[in-house]
Amino acid sequence: MAARHPFTDTDTSDEAVRATCDDATACKRFAISKGYWTDPYIQYFVRSVGERKAPEINRGYYSRVKGVNHLLDAFIRKTKCDCQVINLGAGLDTTFWRLKDENILPRKFFEVDFPTVVARKIHYIKTKPPLSKPVIETHSTDSLLLDAHSLDSDRYCIIGADLRDIATLYEKLKKFQLNPELPTLLLSECVLVYMTPAQSSSLVHWAADTFHTAMFINYEQVNMNDRFGQVMIENLQRRQCTLAGVEVCRSLDSQKERFLLSGWDHADALDMVTVYSMLPQDEVESSYSHRIERLEFLDEKELLQQLLQHYSICWATKDKLRLGLSQLAF
Ligand SMILES: C[S@@+](CC[C@H](N)C(=O)[O-])C[C@H]1O[C@@H](n2cnc3c(N)ncnc32)[C@H](O)[C@@H]1O
Repeated sequence: MAARHPFTDTDTSDEAVRATCDDATACKRFAISKGYWTDPYIQYFVRSVGERKAPEINRGYYSRVKGVNHLLDAFIRKTKCDCQVINLGAGLDTTFWRLKDENILPRKFFEVDFPTVVARKIHYIKTKPPLSKPVIETHSTDSLLLDAHSLDSDRYCIIGADLRDIATLYEKLKKFQLNPELPTLLLSECVLVYMTPAQSSSLVHWAADTFHTAMFINYEQVNMNDRFGQVMIENLQRRQCTLAGVEVCRSLDSQKERFLLSGWDHADALDMVTVYSMLPQDEVESSYSHRIERLEFLDEKELLQQLLQHYSICWATKDKLRLGLSQLAF
């Protein structure tokens, strides 16, 4: 059998992986429409609310978004916005606009995804003034780059690249003024699981080698060795979507290990049952969790528990500047 080049392979499996960004956006859009959290920008990426999603799914997305945002915002505040963020496999994520509205934009916010996904995102930004206005407002000169394949402004940059081809990825990031000296937050939300363990380890290793003061937040599956995990794998397989990295999703320890064996000094991981239970303490109102639990009637509490048990947030830090990054937690 002829060997296929691992980076230029545009087979059906990659296509199915690219399609997952629409699933994520549709699920977020639905949960937002139910009132789980607010996001005035997502409507420009997916117009209709779409078909109903089960309450467990909505609550799962609520804990995912709130959990990731909690750590992301903590990092940005710790560095007093004197930092950069790289969202790896960002899809149609709207975090740039949220951070701008909340006045906590990092010095520069980078996003990377496959070129075809990036081209779609840029098209939406170009054609929707509520999306393009904040990009233009945060740009100081007349050099804004907004073509079909990349966007580069003072504060926001979108790059089309394959995360498995690290040399090209790094070249492109440097071309758009990535600064290895700045404290850097790397984020991957349901992305590493689509790469082989060797590929995700290389990416994680590259990040540790490149940035001396950094945090990596990874949200994805965990406890995948049981029956529930097997069903999840089979369901995705039926859509030609392979979880090539599922091996690392065995346990919280295997999630942490990926970082600790790749140059990171400190790693923590929590399953989403724990994250969900801790979220209200960080919210403004003490009754927040009640608000969430009143939004929709949950028939089967067990199903939610099972779902949350199979996702996790793992975060790793290295901290040459001694900012106290290893203390960032829930
Ligand atoms: C499940 S979606 C998540 C999107 C976004 N992080 C979110 O949570 O809304 C996974 C994203 O990772 C991207 N992705 C997966 N593997 C990639 C790779 N090797 N290179 C670039 N992007 C990749 C996909 O195109 C897709 O947009």
